[in-house]
Amino acid sequence: MENKIVAGIIGLEFGRAHLEGALAYGAEIGLICDCDEKSLKFAADKYNIPEEKCTLDYHDIINNPEINAVSIGIPDQLHKQVALEMLEAGKHVLCEKPLALTKEDITEMVRAARKSNCIFMVGQICRFTPSFAKTKELIDNGTLGELYFVESEYAHDYMNIVSNKQNWRADNARHGVIGGGCHAVDLLRWLAGDPEEVFAYGTHKLLPTVTYDDSTIAIMKFPNNVAGKVYVSTGCKRDYTMRTVIYGTKGTIICDNTSPTMQLFVADETGKAPETPEIIELEVNNHNFVKEFEVFGDAITKGIPVPTPVEEGAKTVAACLAIVESANTGKIVKPDYSF
Ligand SMILES: NC(=O)c1ccc[n+]([C@@H]2O[C@H](COP(=O)([O-])OP(=O)(O)OC[C@H]3O[C@@H](n4cnc5c(N)ncnc54)[C@H](O)[C@@H]3O)[C@@H](O)[C@H]2O)c1
Repeated sequence: MENKIVAGIIGLEFGRAHLEGALAYGAEIGLICDCDEKSLKFAADKYNIPEEKCTLDYHDIINNPEINAVSIGIPDQLHKQVALEMLEAGKHVLCEKPLALTKEDITEMVRAARKSNCIFMVGQICRFTPSFAKTKELIDNGTLGELYFVESEYAHDYMNIVSNKQNWRADNARHGVIGGGCHAVDLLRWLAGDPEEVFAYGTHKLLPTVTYDDSTIAIMKFPNNVAGKVYVSTGCKRDYTMRTVIYGTKGTIICDNTSPTMQLFVADETGKAPETPEIIELEVNNHNFVKEFEVFGDAITKGIPVPTPVEEGAKTVAACLAIVESANTGKIVKPDYSF
């Protein structure tokens, strides 16, 4: 355990969320880093970070012995290289989701993290979304009875982002199921366990600048005789959502990550569900980066284990890779969780 956190924040677009999380936690900011001068200056101005704590080169973080905790918020394709260098330098790592994009890369990252003495947390931020955290609580305390079907969707229109073919999200390796769909897959893994088999079907009608499917449905077999479904659309003509329905033998939850309420149906002693659900009010916070950094910080300063160590991020990517493989081959695929 360490008595304080000196943070290095790498990547300052979405990565500013980690900077805000670190500041909210009371961490000292060692260095902030972005290789793009405009992004670096914008973040420095916004959060009053002095010039001597700003760098264009993440190696300055490696070479700063004061910095003990690093967040990685750069393109998915670069997570592995930077994470391995940080682990090698003995820094604790909070790495954005998805952990990486290939089986080779996630395996290398898992092995490096296991070999190090460092904490490695993957930023599966949906686990801190109030509606999903409440759902987990209601499953764990038995309110829903035994699960038998779980479904979640990740619908997010990337049209504007990938219209620039040079954008890293337009890269074929950054399939929408892995890049964004990993949120829905991780959510169902958290609620129902590791999928044992998947079968998927994909189509491509929405994003002309990418070569991967922009709409994918995956049917999944979870442990304990639970069936499930994940739907991913990265070109949808609607607002962003992760609609989710969880069915148990005693009750049902209908929720998402952008609404101020969720619905809960609980059957009476005869097994009959009410005609109208209980409405549970919630804070809307689909990017709860303050809680996420708090959990990372508490692991370092208080020794509380993180909920999403490197293996969790890796298993989520492994399940996503199985979905992509199934959609490409038309075959049922068993995710490979050996790292
Ligand atoms: N948890 C979530 O809900 C969520 C949301 C958005 C993005 N993300 C993840 O966050 C990461 C960053 O996404 P983004 O939307 O900010 O991408 P982005 O392209 O908008 O920004 C990436 C930033 O990283 C910088 N960068 C790239 N290479 C660098 C390097 N070697 N050293 C320093 N800086 C470098 C770029 O200059 C840019 O400012 C990705 O892994 C993405 O999947 C997660």
